[in-house]
Amino acid sequence: MDALVAPSPVAAEAARRRTFAIIAHPDAGKTTLTEKLLLKGGAIQLAGAVRAKGNARRTRSDWMKIEQDRGISVATSVMTFERGGLVFNLLDTPGHEDFSEDTYRTLTAVDAAVMVLDAAKGIESQTRKLFEVCRMRDIPIITFVNKMDREARDPFELIDEIEQTLALDAAPVAWPVGRASEFAGTWDLLDKHFLPVDADDAGSIPLDDIDDPRLDELVGAERALMLREEAMLAEAGLKVFDLEAFREGHMTPVFFGSALRDFGVGHLLDGLARYAPPPGARAGDPREVLPGEEKLTGFVFKVQANMDPNHRDRVAFVRLCSGKLTKGMRLKQVRTGKQVPVNAPLFFFAKDRQVAEEAWPGDVVGVANHGTLRIGDTLTEGEELNFRGVPSFAPEILRHVQLEDPMLAKKLKTALDQLAEEGVVQLFRPLDGSLPVVGVVGQLQLDVLQSRLKVEYGVPARFQDTMWSMMRWVTSDDRTAIDRFAQANRRDTGEDHDGELVAFFGSDWRRKRAEEEWPALRFHAVREQHGLEQMKR
Ligand code: G4P
Repeated sequence: MDALVAPSPVAAEAARRRTFAIIAHPDAGKTTLTEKLLLKGGAIQLAGAVRAKGNARRTRSDWMKIEQDRGISVATSVMTFERGGLVFNLLDTPGHEDFSEDTYRTLTAVDAAVMVLDAAKGIESQTRKLFEVCRMRDIPIITFVNKMDREARDPFELIDEIEQTLALDAAPVAWPVGRASEFAGTWDLLDKHFLPVDADDAGSIPLDDIDDPRLDELVGAERALMLREEAMLAEAGLKVFDLEAFREGHMTPVFFGSALRDFGVGHLLDGLARYAPPPGARAGDPREVLPGEEKLTGFVFKVQANMDPNHRDRVAFVRLCSGKLTKGMRLKQVRTGKQVPVNAPLFFFAKDRQVAEEAWPGDVVGVANHGTLRIGDTLTEGEELNFRGVPSFAPEILRHVQLEDPMLAKKLKTALDQLAEEGVVQLFRPLDGSLPVVGVVGQLQLDVLQSRLKVEYGVPARFQDTMWSMMRWVTSDDRTAIDRFAQANRRDTGEDHDGELVAFFGSDWRRKRAEEEWPALRFHAVREQHGLEQMKR
């Protein structure tokens, strides 16, 4: 009988969500691909907004009423579109050359990622970094080799590079027919379809098999011959797509196309629909949460300040993991036990933003607040539960913050506290009482900090080099060892924003030394919110 029982509305809604991000090295074509994906999903009015960068993007985004009301630019943070009965949530990751923690954290909120490669360049530095973050959570990755309309590298070489540099099995799904100006389309190796380059989504041409003579008519004898040879080689030498291996994060299906020419994008989207997983079980303390559960749970992965410097309002981006969110709910912030009213959640539906009234597992909603909600916070309907997996990364750049006007010390403290809560930078207070230290993963974060301190808080500040080039969070089961360590290293230790002990090092050699000298301690490069044992000193 059980098989006849319809799934609950929560389970059914969760099952039709696909929440993903696009990871790419700058210039690989992420923006262009995003635009084309949104067009396919009918979110046409959004497509123009994606293009605009920086300030231009902000001024352009006034189409969204909520932004006018609140002065918050949320337009491109989450883009939701529907296609074929599925709801796609595309979470934007900042596309800077420089790395920011925002990007890392956004990847904790997705269930899959599309990795865009420039066909002429293959895996680039940023691709690799972003991939490593996906690997930490075994996020399934679909590869889109973009710019096939231009001079491209050999597909075999590209696939080999993915496998070698990322240690990830790669299985071609589409195979390019012809190259560069001779590029004629792709051959679907799994479904035996030919997709001509100028066809729209419905334009794929099913053939009996690759030896079907119609292929010669479609692409010319030369290209057909080349395809047959390559397909045979691919079959003999490359991996075959395996859904399970993909979902476990060990294999990537590879699509070829051109975002600019809107080619292969529909095929990629079909791949996302078919292969990418819906929201799954999520690890938490003390238990795992299933998406079909009736009670709502979610976590904050990003906080964005109001663009209007006169308001301290912020939007916390909450990824829902179970249950249903409706307007006016009150949720428990587990970290503090406080009730958080969700009176006007921001829904990111592309088609009709104003009427969306509910959100489901896999969806992201924006919750306006005055700084109560922090990155890593878990929200529930009352249960004591914390999600794991929203990480802080040991910053690679550590700077003292120096005021230009010492009278502003108090203001600086408030500003730094608020900006740290928002996740703009990490903030450390040295145990010896010296100037506060800010830590960032990339230089760009420092520029943002400096400009926001000045513009939003009226606190001009400068950064001063420290003697340190790395930091680690320090934990131990042995409290006295922690105390002894802190005492012995007062000049090189501090507390993070949550009062956890951190140690600063001038070199990797010194870090190793400390690890040898203090075997009772553990030195962590990644701190998961609620993932470290609580240390009380
Ligand atoms: P990004 O967000 O990953 O940084 O890349 P973006 O989409 O902005 O694309 C970077 C450049 O590559 C753009 O050119 C874009 O038009 C081009 N591009 C993207 N996809 C394709 C493709 O499939 N084929 C070809 N030939 N080019 C592609 P640009 O000249 O830098 O900018 P624009 O003037 O075109 O905006």
